[in-house]
Amino acid sequence: MSPATLRLHPDTEGLDRAAKLFASGALVAFPTETVYGLGADATQGKAVAAIYEAKGRPSFNPLIVHLADTAAAQALVEWNTQADILARAFWPGPLTLVLPLRADHGLSPLVTAGLPTVGLRVPAHPAARALLAKFGGPVAAPSANPSGRISPTTADHVLAGLDGRIAAVLDDGPCTVGLESTIIGFDGPHAVLLREGGLPPEPIEAALGSRLIQPSGTTITAPGQMSSHYAPRGSLRLNATSAGAGEHMLGFGPVKGDLSLSESGDLVEAAANLFGHLHQLDTLGGPIAVAPVPMNGLGRAINDRLRRAAAPRD
Ligand code: TXA
Ligand code: MG
Repeated sequence: MSPATLRLHPDTEGLDRAAKLFASGALVAFPTETVYGLGADATQGKAVAAIYEAKGRPSFNPLIVHLADTAAAQALVEWNTQADILARAFWPGPLTLVLPLRADHGLSPLVTAGLPTVGLRVPAHPAARALLAKFGGPVAAPSANPSGRISPTTADHVLAGLDGRIAAVLDDGPCTVGLESTIIGFDGPHAVLLREGGLPPEPIEAALGSRLIQPSGTTITAPGQMSSHYAPRGSLRLNATSAGAGEHMLGFGPVKGDLSLSESGDLVEAAANLFGHLHQLDTLGGPIAVAPVPMNGLGRAINDRLRRAAAPRD
């Protein structure tokens, strides 16, 4: 039986508790002005993997990273002029900016689903700001609903979907915006509207002094859905029980390898290791063989990602 989820209040005690839970790798749902987010320390792979497990997500979509202020965002990514204009105008607020990661970002690769870019947001909600400031690190958070259900705008919505599956929810009443953040990416000097959301396009265009580009068929809007979205350079052979000639082996459970997703067969540990280990084996060059991973729990998302990585390339 899972322990019940704590309902915390946004006073000093509740915020301290929530920040300590993040530091310990636990999941805490917290209010933002858009919707409640399901947060975890974005630098701890197992904590990020636990987000996908709690939501029952069948695939690893990139997550938005929440930060206390613009300086914390600038430390993670290659900042640009338009991002600066938008951050000055709309942060804190319901706006997410997708930017290229810096080499020393320190985030778990599971946060970005292996992408070279990351979505960043400085929320305006006072409880979210207080929690992020107290924790002092990046918090990865999708909306705090089970996969396929609607986004929660109250702590009761969160508990209706996730009670017993997460450590705590920070309850500060209903969200004021109630729509997810607007997501803006960049294509060279152009700002691209990747998702409509709580901040309408007009004020964004007014701040930039130019029109937003609508994503075309070739723009990556939902990168987690692209078939060869994370593809290693070498070929990938799935459900392998031993390495063939020249192959680097990624093990799991009883199947040994050059690296193992989890020697004990723990799917949360395997998810946390997935992108990092694939990258590491890929840098060695040559084909990669991957041990079978069971289809229960996080195994579905792991297999989904492995199948995409193994898919034929364009
Ligand atoms: O208001 C919100 O944005 C809420 C609160 C909790 O911040 N979060 C939210 O997260 O809606 P989620 O996981 O439900 O949606 C995140 C969206 C996905 O559609 C994902 O594809 C996109 O952000 N995204 C994240 N990182 C991206 C990236 N590097 N490139 C393109 N899209 C990205
Ligand atoms: Mg969502």
